[in-house]
Amino acid sequence: MNKKAFNETIDIEPIRILFVCLGNICRSPAADGIMQKLVEDAGLDNLITIDSAGTYGGHAGDLPDARMRHHARRRGYELHHRSRKVRSDDFEDFDLILAMDDANYDNLFRMAPSPEARQKIRRMTDFSQRLLVDHVPDPYYEGANGFERVLDILEDACSGLLSAIKDSKL
Ligand code: 4NP
Repeated sequence: MNKKAFNETIDIEPIRILFVCLGNICRSPAADGIMQKLVEDAGLDNLITIDSAGTYGGHAGDLPDARMRHHARRRGYELHHRSRKVRSDDFEDFDLILAMDDANYDNLFRMAPSPEARQKIRRMTDFSQRLLVDHVPDPYYEGANGFERVLDILEDACSGLLSAIKDSKL
């Protein structure tokens, strides 16, 4: 069966996902790029919308950190996102808002304009399958191993997220 015919059998509701970290130059644009590739490979890019943002706006307009782009490229992900700060409309425009760590989660929780908006906020690692982790660590002050570790955690969690969407188990 070719990919298109196979995908016609997958029946999912459209969903809009926002990945959030602090600066939106390392973890969340990497999650964005990894998830985008998984979704395109599954032929679901018409149903799953993906973006990323940061709780801190100091890098607004910047490409992802050069170290993150380097490590991501080695795994086949080209990261082109331009950093932006989370805005109040995001709580309306997205169905699922995924925080990389507890500080991002707490900041999003404070920014959320309503109880319904708060219910959209989850942790990225809620979708981890193979790795036993409770946050995606900030690699900004780390070396190469820190960036590789982030990509390992994100590949695992993005795969779990796509499975949860396909199985309607969000
Ligand atoms: P991110 O990493 O939150 O994964 O994008 C960081 C980027 C920038 C800074 C901290 C973390 N910063 O302090 O500028």
